[in-house]
Amino acid sequence: MPQVHANVPIRARGLAKRFGTVRAVSRIDLDVAPGEALGLLGPNGAGKSTTLTMLMGLRVPDAGEVLIFGHRAGSPQARALTGATPQSTGFPEQLTPCEILSYAAARYRTPARIDEIAVRFGLGQLADRRVAGFSGGEMRRVALALVFVGAPKLVFLDEPTTGLDSAAHESFQEVVREFLDQGGSLILTSHHWDEIEAVCDSITLVDRGESVLEGRIRDIRQRTTVSRVTFSLPPGTVPPEWMQAVHDDARWHLESTDSDKVLRQMVVEALPFRGLTVTPLDLKDLISRIRKEETGP
Ligand SMILES: Nc1ncnc2c1ncn2[C@@H]1O[C@H](COP(=O)(O)OP(=O)(O)OP(=O)(O)O)[C@@H](O)[C@H]1O
Ligand SMILES: [Mg+2]
Repeated sequence: MPQVHANVPIRARGLAKRFGTVRAVSRIDLDVAPGEALGLLGPNGAGKSTTLTMLMGLRVPDAGEVLIFGHRAGSPQARALTGATPQSTGFPEQLTPCEILSYAAARYRTPARIDEIAVRFGLGQLADRRVAGFSGGEMRRVALALVFVGAPKLVFLDEPTTGLDSAAHESFQEVVREFLDQGGSLILTSHHWDEIEAVCDSITLVDRGESVLEGRIRDIRQRTTVSRVTFSLPPGTVPPEWMQAVHDDARWHLESTDSDKVLRQMVVEALPFRGLTVTPLDLKDLISRIRKEETGP
C-alpha cells in the first residue's frame, strides 16, 4: 500500500454505523496529527464509543474509511502502533496486574517496562495480587497501564478516568502529557470537560452520530469574547434588572461580551458588590453558548 498517510495517526472519512434502526454514527470525519490530542465530546448515546471502536478496528463501519498511520484500522500494523482502553473493563480474575501486563506486552516488539508502567499507574503495591476483588478504580488503573504497555504512538481512551480518585486522575494527566511531549497522539472521550481542556488541543463535539462542532480549543475560545462575572451582595440587596444576574451558591453570576462596561456601570450605580471576579467561560459553557448562537434561540 502506498504510505501516503504513514505519518498521520488518524484519518477517518465519512464514518457511519447503524445498529438495527439506530443510527449510532451517521457521518464523522476525524483527523489527528502527530503529537495532537483530540477530545471527543457529546451526550450519552451520541456515538463516541461507536466511533472509537471503528477507529480501533473492533467494528467495521457501514460506510467510510479509517487509516491509522496509513494502515487499515485493526490491521496488525495499526495495532502494533496503538494502545487502547475500552469504556468497560473486565480481566480474568485469577491473573495479577503484572501477569496481565506481561501477557499484553508480549504482543509488541518493543514494549515498555512492566514494573515502571505498574508504578506509574499506582499499581506498585498491587502488581502481584490477583485482580479478583480489585475496586473499580484499581481495575481502571490496570486498564490504563495496559494502554501504554506497548509503547504506542497513538492511544484510544474511552472515558479513561471514570471512577479514578483525584491522585490517580493527576497521575493519568501527567503520563498523558509526557506521552504527548514525546510525540504521541491520542483520542479521548470524557464527560469531564475540565479534563478534556487540560489534556486536549482540539475537540470534536458529537451529537446524534454527527460532528456538530470541531476545531482547536484555542481557536474556539477566540470565537467569543464572553466572560463570566461573579460577585456577592449584602443580604437583602439584589442587582438591577439590566444585569440579568442569577443567584447561585450564595453569589450572583452573569455572562457578558463586555465585562468592562458592566463593571463601570456597577460602580456608577454604587452597587455594594464584594469579591468580584471576571473569568473566561469554561469550555462547557463556551461551547453551549456558541451552539446557541449558531442555531439561534
Ligand atoms: N451493540 C449495539 N447494539 C445496539 N445499539 C447500540 C450498540 N452499540 C451502541 N448502540 C447505540 O448506538 C448509539 C451510540 O452509542 P455509543 O455507545 O456510541 O454512545 P456514546 O456517545 O459512547 O455514549 P456514552 O457517553 O453514554 O458512553 C446509542 O443509541 C446506543 O444505544
Ligand atoms: Mg461511550
